[in-house]
This record gives sequence, C-alpha cells and structure tokens, in this order.
Amino acid sequence: MNEIQKAAGIIQEGGLVAFPTETVYGLGADALNPYAVARIFEVKNRPTFDPLIVHVADIRQAEILVLKFPEKALKLIEKFWPGPLTLVLPKAPIVPDIVTSSLPTVAIRVPNHLMALELIRESGRPIAAPSANPFGQVSPTTVDHVRRSLGNKVDMILDGGPCAIGVESTVISFTGKEPALLRPGGVPLEDIQALIGKVIQAAGSSDKPQSPGQLEQHYAPKTPLVFGDLPSELPAGKKIGLLALQKPKALDGFAAWELLSEKGDLKEAAANLFAAVRRLDEKGLDLILALPAPPEGLGRAINDRLARASQKRPGI
Ligand code: TXA
Ligand code: MG
Repeated sequence: MNEIQKAAGIIQEGGLVAFPTETVYGLGADALNPYAVARIFEVKNRPTFDPLIVHVADIRQAEILVLKFPEKALKLIEKFWPGPLTLVLPKAPIVPDIVTSSLPTVAIRVPNHLMALELIRESGRPIAAPSANPFGQVSPTTVDHVRRSLGNKVDMILDGGPCAIGVESTVISFTGKEPALLRPGGVPLEDIQALIGKVIQAAGSSDKPQSPGQLEQHYAPKTPLVFGDLPSELPAGKKIGLLALQKPKALDGFAAWELLSEKGDLKEAAANLFAAVRRLDEKGLDLILALPAPPEGLGRAINDRLARASQKRPGI
C-alpha cells in the first residue's frame, strides 16, 4: 500500500489527514461524515460558525453537493478548476450542517495538486479541509509547518513539498444577485472579472462576516505586526523586523528582514509570504513592520493577509 492509499483509508474511516494543495496545506476529513468533520474543528480549535471548503476531484463530484450552478460559476469552473478558486453555491441536502455552519450554501474547489487529487479519488469522498494550522494563526505552506503545529493531533501528514501558490484560494460567492468576492486569493480578481464581468466586494465586518475569512483577526504571528508604509523614523530601542516585497532604500535600524521577491514578482512573493512571516516570528523581535504590496493581482491577497495579521487578538 502506498502513502496515498493509506491516507485514503484513514479518510474513509473518519480520520484526519493533512495534505498538500497548491495554495496551503489542508486538514482533511470525509466531508460527508459529520463526526470526522467535527474533529477538524476540535483539532484546529476553530469556532463552528466558520464553514469549511469541500475539495473535490472534478465538477462531477461537485454536482453531488450543489443544487445549482449559475452560468457565471460554470464559466469560472471551466477556466480555473483545478486551481485556487473556491465557489460558494447553494448546497444539496447531502452536505452535513457542520461543514457549512448550517448555511444554505457550500464552498467548493478542485485543488491543482496531484497528491490532493489522488487522495480525493482514492478515498472516493469529497474532502472538507481548512488550512492545517491552529485557528487564527499563520497558514502552513510546508510540511514542516504542519508537523510543528498539528503533528501529534492528526492521523497522517502527506508531504508534497512547499506549496506553489502560497496563499489560500480566492472565494467567490454566488448566493446574492451578483457574484461577490469573499476573500482575495490565488486567482487574481482581475482574471475573474475579465471572464464574468462585475464582481462586488462583499462588505465584511468583524462582527458579522459573510465569510469568516473576513474575520479581522487572522493569519497572525505571535509577534505584533504593523502593516503600513515605512515611517520616516523607526521607534527607538525596539528590535524591529521588516517584511517587504523588495529591498527599501535602506535597511538601517532593522534587526531582521525578509524580502518576498527581489524582482518584485507578486507570484513569487505570495509563495514566500507565510514562511517569511514565520521566520520573522521566530527571531524574538518586538515588532514586525510589513509594507504593503502593490494592490493588484496576488498583491491583493498578500495585503489582505497582512492587514488581518496586523490586528491584535484579544486575550492572546
Ligand atoms: O486555499 C484554500 O482555500 C485552503 C486549502 C486547504 O484549500 N483552504 C482554506 O480553508 O483556506 P479555510 O477554512 O482556512 O478558509 C475557508 C474560507 C473561510 O473564509 C470560510 O469562511 C469560507 O471559506 N467559507 C467556507 N464555506 C463558506 C460558505 N458556505 N459561505 C461563505 N464562506 C464560506
Ligand atoms: Mg485558514
């Protein structure tokens, strides 16, 4: 039996498998088994009002879970699946409430990663999977990240190397009159709009998010992170780390830095983002200063994650 067959057996038996996708590592369970899905929430310490994405191998498998596909959703599916695009669609009764936090909708995507696809096919089940990290913390883009935070809490971890995209999927909802962006991610908004026209920005607020990915506090390192432009003067007497796309004019005054892409390539920057945040977090700094990326393409997803990482989490 190979690794994937073993992992598929664990999924069929209601266990948890951490597996690679092109975006971030996922913490997977059989989406049709509410007990297995309940364990995801337990292991992640995730509030059950935050629904999960269901991963399928192809649109045929999605058809079992969805009542109806609007025309524009089908266009996106044709172009971007497999890939980092999640669609929120009206759910079929077969999808357990715990997966969708009792919403009448389900979030679905086909990951663009061979190991993930083989796991889904081999198990024969749709796989519910959030990112494989404790709730609110930095998402995992390498197997080592998963091992360190959830290593002893899952039944198996599949190693697929570092994730190529590095930020989570773009989430588009088809539940309102017009398609709405719930979370910027791996597929640039511009590419989506080029195909289906207007996409509204869902008005997310921290107390009543349409998508809990809109929670203001998320993706956060332990070190306080400030997201904004380089100040003219750095606060004195503090160990400050810099997170930036490219090298600023001077690095004087910084105790450490991470440059996400020397050539200013937003794809490369996204792929490096979460690992860079983790490295800075391990340096014993007083503060991480994160400079915004240009607000276009994958820059939107990068800025979204950094803005959320910069919120102070109450009580922690
Ligand atoms: O790239 C990804 O999407 C990764 C990999 C593992 O596939 N998964 C991921 O899952 O980021 P998670 O749980 O960290 O984020 C799921 C997002 C959350 O913002 C959640 O609120 C939203 O999808 N979501 C899930 N179901 C929804 C629904 N029915 N309506 C609105 N938002 C939903
Ligand atoms: Mg997550």
